[in-house]
Amino acid sequence: MLALKKYFVITICLYLIMPLHGRDAKRFFPQEELITIGTFYYPEHWPESQWDRDFKNMADMGFEYVHMAEFAWAFMEPSEGQFDFAWLDRAVELAGKHGLKVMLCTPTAATPVWMGIKYPEIYLVDANYRRMEHGTRQMSSLSSPVYQRLSYRIIAEMAKRYGNNPNVWGWQLDNEPEAKADYSPAAQEGFRRWLENRYKTIDALNRAWGTAFWSIVYSDFDQIRIHNTTTVGWWGNNPHALLDFKRFSADTQADFLDQQAEILREHISQRQFITTNYAGVHNHADPRRTENLDFPAFTSYPNSGTPNLGEQGFRRGDPDNLMQNNDYYRPIAGVTGVLEIQPGQVLWGSVNPLLQPGVVRMWLWHNFAAGCRLASSYRYRQILYGVEQYVSGMKLTDGITSSQGGMEYEQFIREIKELRKRYKPDSEMPRELAARRTAILWSHDNLWDHQRQSQSQQWDLWSHVLKYYRILKSMGAPVDYISEEDDFTAYPFLIVPAYQAVDEALVKMWNDYASQGGHLLITCRTGCKTRNGHFWEGPWAQPVTGLIGADITGYDMLLPNGSGEVTMEEKTYSWNNWADLLERHDDTQVLTTYSNQFYFGKAAVVARRQGSGSVTYIGVDTDDAQLERRVLQNIFQQRNVRTENFPLGVYVYWRDGFWIAVNYSSNSYMLKIPDSATILFGRRNLAPAGVTVWTQ
Ligand code: GAL
Repeated sequence: MLALKKYFVITICLYLIMPLHGRDAKRFFPQEELITIGTFYYPEHWPESQWDRDFKNMADMGFEYVHMAEFAWAFMEPSEGQFDFAWLDRAVELAGKHGLKVMLCTPTAATPVWMGIKYPEIYLVDANYRRMEHGTRQMSSLSSPVYQRLSYRIIAEMAKRYGNNPNVWGWQLDNEPEAKADYSPAAQEGFRRWLENRYKTIDALNRAWGTAFWSIVYSDFDQIRIHNTTTVGWWGNNPHALLDFKRFSADTQADFLDQQAEILREHISQRQFITTNYAGVHNHADPRRTENLDFPAFTSYPNSGTPNLGEQGFRRGDPDNLMQNNDYYRPIAGVTGVLEIQPGQVLWGSVNPLLQPGVVRMWLWHNFAAGCRLASSYRYRQILYGVEQYVSGMKLTDGITSSQGGMEYEQFIREIKELRKRYKPDSEMPRELAARRTAILWSHDNLWDHQRQSQSQQWDLWSHVLKYYRILKSMGAPVDYISEEDDFTAYPFLIVPAYQAVDEALVKMWNDYASQGGHLLITCRTGCKTRNGHFWEGPWAQPVTGLIGADITGYDMLLPNGSGEVTMEEKTYSWNNWADLLERHDDTQVLTTYSNQFYFGKAAVVARRQGSGSVTYIGVDTDDAQLERRVLQNIFQQRNVRTENFPLGVYVYWRDGFWIAVNYSSNSYMLKIPDSATILFGRRNLAPAGVTVWTQ
């Protein structure tokens, strides 16, 4: 009884503490402010005599926060254990004087020279066993105990100094965290201990890795070296060992962030948030592996000089970039922000063209529409020297004239301030939109498994997922990327794309979801492996065959110019990437069949009812995704859910009572805005790089 009482007391205490220290991230961003807008500044790059002017100009441009101290380790700890924060104190105070909130950044991405000279083991070792060197950033071994110790010490010093400074609003950890492959002695040792912790016995590891194959078998954890395809070649490595190395690298990276956050929390006020700027969905850092951050934020560079929608598309950039980042990072803690939205030209694109006037503003509006609570840009001033000379800033090289991007920021800030006046609390997502809410189930482990054994050079998991994502966006569906830990039932539709590694418990969750009325769309390759990446000893994809109502009797892929065909509703579609050959069970309906190759007549898409929901399995990946679109349309229509048909590059959102449309395409698009609506910015006829905002 006493134990039970203790349990309740602890639970209630935890409950009281949790919202302050956990993922209650919304409390940092009052809803009525909609989005807070800032800029990155590096005081150490400029004469101190200019700081006051620069902060004043930032405030005059309308910026509300300034981000500082990123990469400034050498200035805060010029020699080992000797700290100098006086310059940063002055910068933080001056920013505050001009009404700017300060976001500080831990400086761990760039180490001072003294560190590498005294402790060369802090450097990462690459796949060619070359140790990295001083002179750039992100070259440290996150497994190195020395690097960790020195990192945590500077963070503690910063936390003690600024953790209760009223001007300091929040913290960014590190910069664009990456789960890099590290082959240093510290990483080798870290990997062995990680494996020991995961498998407990060497026999369990031998089974999980299938080490009987080619005599890889181990008798002790200490015998293990990181498998390295760069040295021994593709054939020489075990896919299960490589998958574990990916997991280990992502865990190491996540632990490093969690440790940083924990140290900050010992000293900082509960008013200050902790985030980091993930480098976007294609990065291998897995934001879901961290536990101590308030929310994840991201960086977004949509334009890298590659061809895009229409002849001038190369000046507008990738339509999916920031959109997918929002839908991927936002669901994790219910809050996200873009810490770096490309300010103009950059230096690392294949070419780095001038942006189409209006594009930076459109990206900002798009980030707002997609849910960002904060937005800022790397960097306030274009720097005169160094690797990133060619990256534009809010100000040109004279330090005072606003760049095109800077002027577009100013316009966006003015517009948001107008919008705040019109904000009405408690507005609810229109029912029509809520009815289309769709989740895409995502896991990095699944991605890594595909990348190691794609089976066809034409297969790429991200491209496969992007096909469904683009269809959903053109239908005007709100989309969230979710994980197995999330509540599927919050979404009427759930897409499970090529989710290879499963277990019975996961399949049961899918089963329950459909039984309770959810509409499940599962795509090819799902379920064929165990969590360790083994095939099942039994029929192909054994755990899912009951759920999808079909056996998978084979899988095929064609040459790059191959022309596989499938037919649905008397229309033919072509494919050549992937095809699961299906044989339906009794209660299953065949929607599509293969119409050429030696197995013509076999099923490619099947569907069945399950409880009050449904399960559809698409075994084929078509070239232009038109079949997938048709299948999705049917799924929505059968449930009386109306969908849109926006052209690629036109996106229409609803947020906080406002409708927002943006256009990455090269054609104008006539929006269907009711006559009763009030257009706040832009026009009904939405031009390329245009934005329209209205209420109705
Ligand atoms: C980002 C990075 C910034 C800066 C910028 C240049 O990826 O986070 O620190 O390097 O690129 O475009």
